[in-house]
Amino acid sequence: MVASQEALASEAGARILRQGGNAIDAAVATAYALAVTLPQAGNLGGGGFLVFWNQPEGRGYALNFREMAPRRAHKDLFLDADGNVDRRLATRSLLSTGVPGTVAGLLKAQSRFGVLSRQQVMAPAIALAEQGFAVYPVLAQSLRRAQPLLGKDPTARRLYYKDGGVPYAPGEILRQPQLAATLRRIARQGRQGFYEGPVARQLEALMRQRGGLIDRVDLAEYTAPWVEPVQGRFRGLTVLSMPPPSSGGVTLVQLLNLLEPFDLPAMGLSSAAAVHTLVEAMNLAYRDRNSELGDADQVEVPVERLTSKTYANGLRPLIQPDRHTPSAELGGLAPVPANSTNTTHLSVADSKGSLVALTTTLNFAYGNGIAVPGTGVLLNNEMDDFTAKPGVPNAYGLVQGEKNAIAPGRRPLSSMTPTVVLTAEGKPWLATGSPGGSRIITTVLQVLLNRVVHGLNLASAVIAPRLHSQLWPDRLQLEQGFSPDTIRLLEQLGHGIQPSRAMGSANSVEVKPEGGSLGVADPRRPEGAAVAERP
Ligand code: GLY
Repeated sequence: MVASQEALASEAGARILRQGGNAIDAAVATAYALAVTLPQAGNLGGGGFLVFWNQPEGRGYALNFREMAPRRAHKDLFLDADGNVDRRLATRSLLSTGVPGTVAGLLKAQSRFGVLSRQQVMAPAIALAEQGFAVYPVLAQSLRRAQPLLGKDPTARRLYYKDGGVPYAPGEILRQPQLAATLRRIARQGRQGFYEGPVARQLEALMRQRGGLIDRVDLAEYTAPWVEPVQGRFRGLTVLSMPPPSSGGVTLVQLLNLLEPFDLPAMGLSSAAAVHTLVEAMNLAYRDRNSELGDADQVEVPVERLTSKTYANGLRPLIQPDRHTPSAELGGLAPVPANSTNTTHLSVADSKGSLVALTTTLNFAYGNGIAVPGTGVLLNNEMDDFTAKPGVPNAYGLVQGEKNAIAPGRRPLSSMTPTVVLTAEGKPWLATGSPGGSRIITTVLQVLLNRVVHGLNLASAVIAPRLHSQLWPDRLQLEQGFSPDTIRLLEQLGHGIQPSRAMGSANSVEVKPEGGSLGVADPRRPEGAAVAERP
């Protein structure tokens, strides 16, 4: 079963399962296909994380293929002469690009755990890029909206628009021969096909011409290490998620620990009492997220303390049942609102019960909108996930601390939360994750709570209306679907309500106890699909 944010990519992964591939083969095939069919977030020029439960071995793994700051990056990279953050530099220039990690990550995962050949798993993506695919309505609309960004870069304009910069209409065929050639090169040569040779040369030349920092040494030195998943226990279940440089796993486990003793089902799904409890816990967890987390390879990150039950027990009394604690009482600075919700998540279950949760991103939709000439590769603007200036918010409104300052070779703090859950008996059960910037962690939390605590089936758990709070701004964001009387009660408790557009896209899979699996593509993004191994 493969659930992803784009139907052709899910089908590519399912086809790989039918050919005898395992969950890793299928996840990697889907991720490469998303680089073709979901260019806003699927990528070769970005990065991501993977959490894997290898059922034959009974062991979990996490893979860190987050982008790295180039060697010449420094703390004040995005500050202007007056010491203010230059948002254009941080998000739209080549300085905003971190050394891409996706290709290294997908190759590393597939070469260690895949059972098919690299050529086999990359074949669907190569075919989609070479032969093209019919532009689906959401992509047509997305590319029309992105025209002011992508139209500015001559290379990106040629890749994603017709002659004269005319947008594709739904149903027209989008071919990406340069991307197909890059994919073929990777299929043939592996890592060398991207981090060395013509792709690396083109990337370095672009950086040199247009003020970027990445060079061939940065590319050659890029690493995608295997790391231990963050592990939590929640009501007997085991939760495996992504450790730093993601804040996702630590914050998710901290939230589950904080919420474990509350009788949320008695309060009722989406009731004012349950929403209030979640929000107060979220604000406490995001207070730590914003100051304590960073790239654990370079800074001290107290993962054990933050994920311990003892720590949660100490914090929990701060959750008052009858009053929202204003953020000013908890600390922090006033940020700008969140404005980008991209990134993409896919989940896979194979017939042996292995599970993959894989989240990948360019940061903003289409990254910084700049493509590498001759390669079909669009570049990320992940450097904006660093703290450009401690205390000043990034694009997601997250105010972060010194631990996430820009430094050579460091990876920016992320919210991506690919997560796998095992049953109380240690059997594989669920894989989930989401896009959504700072809302990723709370989206994953709610999918888990809806399924585990409220007992909803997987589809309902994914569909149920979502909320989000991250300490600052001191606002409770609510999707559609909360009743006016609930909102009134929340206001009486002191919450400032902010209606929100759809949050996340939690494409999830579940292993059924009687065998087989279920998959749900989050209907918030209509282009997604869950595709079974058996059609
Ligand atoms: N770029 C979004 C994240 O990594 O959380």
